[in-house]
Amino acid sequence: LNAAAVVPAAGRGERLGPGAPKALRELGGVPMLVHAVRALARSRAVGLVVVAAPPDGVAEVAALLGDHGLPRGEIRVVAGGASRQESVRLGLAAVPEDVEVVLVHDAARPLVPVEVVDAVVEAVRGGAEAVVPAVPLADTVKRVEPRADGTPEPVLDTPDRASLRAVQTPQGFRRETLQTVHDRALTDESVGALPQVTDDAGLVERYGGTVVVVPGHGEAFKVTRPLDLVLAEAVLARRRA
Ligand code: CTP
Ligand code: MG
Repeated sequence: LNAAAVVPAAGRGERLGPGAPKALRELGGVPMLVHAVRALARSRAVGLVVVAAPPDGVAEVAALLGDHGLPRGEIRVVAGGASRQESVRLGLAAVPEDVEVVLVHDAARPLVPVEVVDAVVEAVRGGAEAVVPAVPLADTVKRVEPRADGTPEPVLDTPDRASLRAVQTPQGFRRETLQTVHDRALTDESVGALPQVTDDAGLVERYGGTVVVVPGHGEAFKVTRPLDLVLAEAVLARRRA
């Protein structure tokens, strides 16, 4: 089965602090997005990468990927949207009809090892409709009653850590499944408020689909806060040593 990857890269990276859009911030002198696209292209299974760029930065991103030697024929750049979900939907619309397996990978996970990409594709090819890479949690997690006013938040309970996983990307899907849940989300959201879904597999779960987990990897962590940049630089330096 033919696989393509959609890379949502249109976020501003507010939690990272002031600066360029997060996907264009550099690690080891190379934009995070370039690392992420290379990581996907390294997989023999991935024949096309569609990048959802900041809407005002499509030409700039296309030029940047070219400058870093990424083959034009295997990469498309489209305008992303106001939310991650919208960016994925717009990217998916640029995936050719004959592609049966679609990966969705955050530009903000630039160092994902190719083994993770391959494992996700393999699981979809093996029959799963939705696949997420995930790792066990190091921290104990508690559910709280959120307080916006800064007062201490009451703890409600502590889920059993053994049954929790932190999920990463790339997440992999039968193309039809991903298209169907995004279409449904679009009509649902125009109707009323729904709990926020922060990943694509979450949409599959919402509409009754089955999601399975394959082993993720520590180096597939998401660059979210400034400290994550420190870790990413260290991982890169170790790889280059
Ligand atoms: N993303 C996107 N379009 C948006 C928002 C996010 O394509 N409108 C992408 C980001 O570029 C990123 C991925 O979704 O690659 C994961 O999102 P996140 O880590 O939250 O990135 P940002 O939204 O950019 O960061 P922040 O939430 O701190 O502003
Ligand atoms: Mg965000």
